[in-house]
This record gives sequence, C-alpha cells and structure tokens, in this order.
Amino acid sequence: MTSTLTHADKTGLYETRIDELLAEMTLTEKVGQLTQFSGFHDVTGPAPAEWRAAQKHHLLQNGLIGSMLNVVGVEAVRNYQKFAVENSRLGIPMMFAYDVIHGQKTMCPIPLAEAASWDLNLIRKSARVAAIEAAAQGLNWTFAPMVDVSREPRWGRVMEGAGEDPYLGSRIAEARVKGFQGDNLSANDTILATIKHFAAYGFAEAGKEYNTAEIGTTTLHNMVLPPFDAALKNANPRSVMNAFNTVNGIPGTGDAALQRDWLKGNQKFDGVVVSDWGSALEMIAHGFVADEREAAKVAILAGSDIDMESYVYLDHLENLVESGEVDEAVIDDAVRRVLRVKFELGLFDDPYRYIDSEREQTRLFTESHLNTALAMARKSIVLLKNERGALPLSADKKIALIGALAVDQDAPLGNWRADADAHSAMSIMDGFDEAGLDYVYSYGVTVQLGDSHFEYPVHVNYENRDGFDEAVAIARDMDQVVLVVGETARMSGEGRSRADIGLPGLQQELLEAIHAVNPNIVLIVMSGRPLVLSWADANVPAIVQVWHLGHRSGGAITDVLTGKENPSGKLPMSFPRSVGQIPIYYNHLNTGRPGPRDEVTWAHYSDEKNSPLYAFGHGLSYTWFEYSDLTTRLEIDHVDVSFRVKNAGHRDGEEVAQLYIRDRVASIARPVKELKGFEKVHLSAGETKRIHLKLKGDELGFFNTQGNFVIEQGEFDVFVGGTSDAPLHTMFNLSDEHIMSFGAK
Ligand code: BGC
Repeated sequence: MTSTLTHADKTGLYETRIDELLAEMTLTEKVGQLTQFSGFHDVTGPAPAEWRAAQKHHLLQNGLIGSMLNVVGVEAVRNYQKFAVENSRLGIPMMFAYDVIHGQKTMCPIPLAEAASWDLNLIRKSARVAAIEAAAQGLNWTFAPMVDVSREPRWGRVMEGAGEDPYLGSRIAEARVKGFQGDNLSANDTILATIKHFAAYGFAEAGKEYNTAEIGTTTLHNMVLPPFDAALKNANPRSVMNAFNTVNGIPGTGDAALQRDWLKGNQKFDGVVVSDWGSALEMIAHGFVADEREAAKVAILAGSDIDMESYVYLDHLENLVESGEVDEAVIDDAVRRVLRVKFELGLFDDPYRYIDSEREQTRLFTESHLNTALAMARKSIVLLKNERGALPLSADKKIALIGALAVDQDAPLGNWRADADAHSAMSIMDGFDEAGLDYVYSYGVTVQLGDSHFEYPVHVNYENRDGFDEAVAIARDMDQVVLVVGETARMSGEGRSRADIGLPGLQQELLEAIHAVNPNIVLIVMSGRPLVLSWADANVPAIVQVWHLGHRSGGAITDVLTGKENPSGKLPMSFPRSVGQIPIYYNHLNTGRPGPRDEVTWAHYSDEKNSPLYAFGHGLSYTWFEYSDLTTRLEIDHVDVSFRVKNAGHRDGEEVAQLYIRDRVASIARPVKELKGFEKVHLSAGETKRIHLKLKGDELGFFNTQGNFVIEQGEFDVFVGGTSDAPLHTMFNLSDEHIMSFGAK
C-alpha cells in the first residue's frame, strides 16, 4: 500500500499542532470548520434561500467557514482563501471541493464506461489526469469516486459508478483513489478523494432517484461495503460522503452503526466524513428527526463531520453543546479530522499551494491529457454483437452515417462534466473525417429538443419525424449503415432515473424504418446506462456499446469501427432483455426451483427469458480466445488457479480473462457465481499464455448474518472465461486445515 501520509503526520506532529489549534478555537470557529458552503460556479443541489446567501457571504468574508464546493478557477479560489486566511482570527485555510468525476477540463469516459475497460492502470491514470487539472484550477478535494455497487440501470447514477460487481468495483475504487491522491497528498497536483455514497445509494428501489434501499445484512456486507472496505484498506481515501437514502429505515447521515461503528470504529478511518448536499436537513422529510435542531444533533452524533449546505450545524451545534446534549469532545473529534486533512494537504504550510495562475494556463486540456482520454475511450468500448462480418467496416463499402448523436459534440462529454466546455467533444463524424472515411450523412431524428447541454427537464423528441425520409433514402442507397442512437448527456446522472430504458424518443422507430430498407446496420449505442436493446439484438448484425466516452469519443469509436483498435471492453453491468427483469445481475442466489420443469411452478417468467440479453463480463473482439487446461492447486496461503488462453484468430487482441467461483454449500446461500479475479492480457494472433490467478482467504469467505467474515470448508466451483457465462469449469475442496493456513481476514 502506498501511504498518502507525509512524514510529519507519521510522527504525530500534526496531532500536536491540531491540539494546540483546538485549544485556541472558540466553539463558533469549530462549527465553522464543520460547515461547507457551495459557491456559485456550478449548481449541484437545491439553491438556498436569499437570506441564506447573504449570511453565507458574511461568514465567508470573515473566514468563518471550513470548506467550500463549487468554487472553481484560481482567481475565485484565491479570493475566498484570502478571506479565510486574512480575515479570520486563526487564519485557518479552507479546502475547495468539486465533483471531479471523470475529468476537470479534459473529459475521459464516464466512470461506468471506464469500468468496462477492466484496465486498472488506465483508470488510475485517468483519475490522475483529473486530479492534475482540478488542482491546476485551485481545487484540492474531489467528491469521487462513487463506489456504489448498483444493479439498477434505471437509476441515472449508474453512469458514475463501476457497475454491479463488488470485486471489480473494489479494484476500480482503489485505482481511482490512488489516481486522485497520488503518492503525496501535499503535492500541488494531488487532491483528496471521497468514496461515496455511504451506503447503498445504488440499491435505490425500482431505480427511482434517492429512493429507499431495502437490503439485508448479508447483502450490505457482501455487495455494498466491499468497495468501501477495499479502498479504505488499500488506498487510504481521506474522505467519505454519506448517502441520501435510508437503509433499514435509517438515513445515511444519521446512521451511527455505519459511520461511528463500522467506518470510524472497525475501519479506524481517521479522515473526514462529509454529508451529502442538504442530507442532514433531509432527515426531516424522511421522518427520522423532528426538526433542524434534532437533525444537527443526530448527524453529528452519528459521525457526519461536515454539513454540506444544510446549515443545521451552523444554526444549532453551539446551542446543542451549551445545553449539554452534544459533548464538545464530539465536535473536537470532527474538527480534528478536518484540520488533519488540511495539514495533509499542506495547506497550513502554504494556503495558496493549489493556487497558481501559471499552472492553470499550462496544465489544462493538454495534448497528453487528451491522449489519455483517447486511450481510455478506446478501451471502454464494448462490442456486444458482430455477425456476418459486419465489423470492422470494409473500405470498399459505401457507408451511410445516420443519427443526430453521430454529430453531437456534447453528448460524449456525459454528465458530471466538471469544468469541460459544452459541445467540445470529438463527434463520430469528426472521427470519420479525421480518418478520411467516405460516407454520406443524415441525422434521421433529433433525440432531444433544445440545447442538450443546458436543458432540464430533458425534452425528448416524440413528435418530429422530419428527418426520417432522407435517412431512409440514403440508407437504401448505401451498402452499409452506421446508425448512432442512444442518450444525450443529461439523460443519465443525478436526478435522471428512467422507468423505460429503451432507445429514447423516436429512435427505435427510425431504426426499424431503416432496417426495412437496409438491414446491414452497425448500431452504435451511446448511453450512460445499459439500455434495453432486444429488438436490435434480434435484427441487426452488429451492436457497439460506446457509452459517453469523453473528449476523444469520435476518434476512439472510429478506430474500433475501422479495426485500427481491436475492441476489448467487457460489460460491468448486465444488459436486461426487458425492464421487467430488473434488477438482473449475474451474482444472484439460486432459488429453490432454478431449473426448467415440465410444470409451470419454477423460477421464471412466462413471457421472458431468465437470462440477460448481454451478461456481465461479456464483450467481443475481432479475434477470439480459447480457454483450456484449467487446474487448481492449494498452496499455503491461497488457491492457485491456472489455465491457458489462446488467441485463436488472425488479429492481435486483448482479452479480459475472468475467474468466478461458487461456494456450493455454506451457512448462508451464496451466489451462483462471483467474480474473484481477472487479468487483462494482450495476445498476438495464434499466441497462447498460461495465466495464474490467486484465490486468497479474502476471496473465499463471506460475511454472515452477524456481519462477521467467515471462510467455510467444502466444495468450490471454479469457472474461467471471457464472460460471466464462463464455460470452463473445475472444482476444489477446501478443508479446515487449509482455512487455518490461509489465516482469517
Ligand atoms: C450528490 C453528490 C455530490 C454533491 C455535491 C449531491 O447532490 O449526491 O454526489 O457530490 O451533490 O455536488
């Protein structure tokens, strides 16, 4: 593990200085450190009343606030920092946070797309680029990565996470935190990472934004908490954000069992917990507290250190301490955490460390950052289907490029685009032009009315078919159609849940109209979530999932279509056949009647298959890979799983070799398959490699109904392959002696 703490911290020097500061601080000053205000650069939550804005202004000018979000750019940050340092009694610097999710100025693919690369080094590099650019704009704290496991493609925020799997999600959480925080937090190009949302926001019922999460203890521990646990143990994120939603009827901000006991107790987390926007106040609407005063009390006692935009700490904490309802030691502990991360960032040595106009001029949107965005985009593309040699495109075919999204320079930037300029991405048409492809273009149908960058609510086009005739005529004349469909940037993200996740608006109708005259369609699907693509799957020869790929979207997509890049992405989420199957995920439990029977009484739908349209881990290549010779060997502290992968085709390519297990019999029912390892390998045409993956104790055990980690003896299935439908199988027997030698977690 790379430590992000500096020498001074290890020797406890900060703690002594924090003690000294705490001793000098008034209660008002302490509460200020626990209060976070939003600036005016961006609106990422409900705006406060006008009188609050005036109060905010006054407090900020007097340096009474600990941190801000949504203040971006060296000049703006400098102004606020000057207030804090020069106008306050103790000169405590502020921290400046922002939602830097997949880039600051240079956009890399949305996080869900990056997860499809399964390329941890590249994901880390992408987070690094984001941190460098954010720090160059005066920021020192990002509210990322979101590590919420989710099985809910209707939930708009799946675009912001790593998908449905806790193992893949854990590795990606570690990579992102390391990318943001680097090796030394006090360097002027690293920023605090925040793992969020703690916890279970991704389990919002029916995919409705902010909805209740109804999960049991074992799902909480085995599915939701692992990415938090992995990041905390292996990457040392210095902040955690709690969640809007309730779990077991308790809102995240008021959840003492999660924050005090699990996070700060078991995990010994010594960084800072920040509330979500207004989430302390929202406990009133949840019916969990009666009023603002109680909200403040419950939140601080539960371990939520900083209040973002609720104002309840500001209004009530002092009084709560004076009345004896909250011990001042609780406040001191929270303030200590805030001061500690400020020390780690080096802000006490130099409050202007992140504020440098020259860096702001030279380190944004650089060629090298755009190259990272391109590399990341290429690896994030998933080839879902490819029949009849549809792809790569052959040079002698006449191409019709159709779809409004094919020329859209905004949609690829995706949601949560920080400070990126609107309409600044490379479109697919730009990519075709750069590659010198010959094509005829027609927009077919508008996806969204109004400017897709600014407009909300999104006005989906359900009426205007003016472009249909021209597109159909062009498609009829050409050999090959490249049809680009999907979602604009603001159709996914926070507040963008959808009940119907088919192609929005009239796009399905356009697809069918074009198919009627020319079925040679390569369907490019641009979206922030898995969509239902069942009709397309049954009718078109090739489907490419391109998500929202960031600034270099068009170049990356063109590279894959032409075969310059051999696609290697694998799905981080299952694609349903229909909305009624949701939640559908590969690591489900068996039922008591899983298999087909003659009679009707078994676990199935009468009008739909049980399987997803495209499984977790699925993704094709222009070559193909054969797996063989699977063996397992029990070693002292792990099980060695080894197998051979052969590139059996005629092109070089990359494959994500995946390892799944099933614990056949356990004290709680275990999933039918669980990802427990993977390796991304490059294989030249005809080349074979033997791969060894280790299953350690951590991978073989699980959390039981008491929330305790156990490894149990017995038989384990092992599956390997290039998808969660991995066909190659073996098994091994784990004895109590082995478990002893593995050591408990
Ligand atoms: C989101 C957080 C985000 C915060 C600040 C909230 O609405 O849930 O993820 O960090 O706003 O913008």
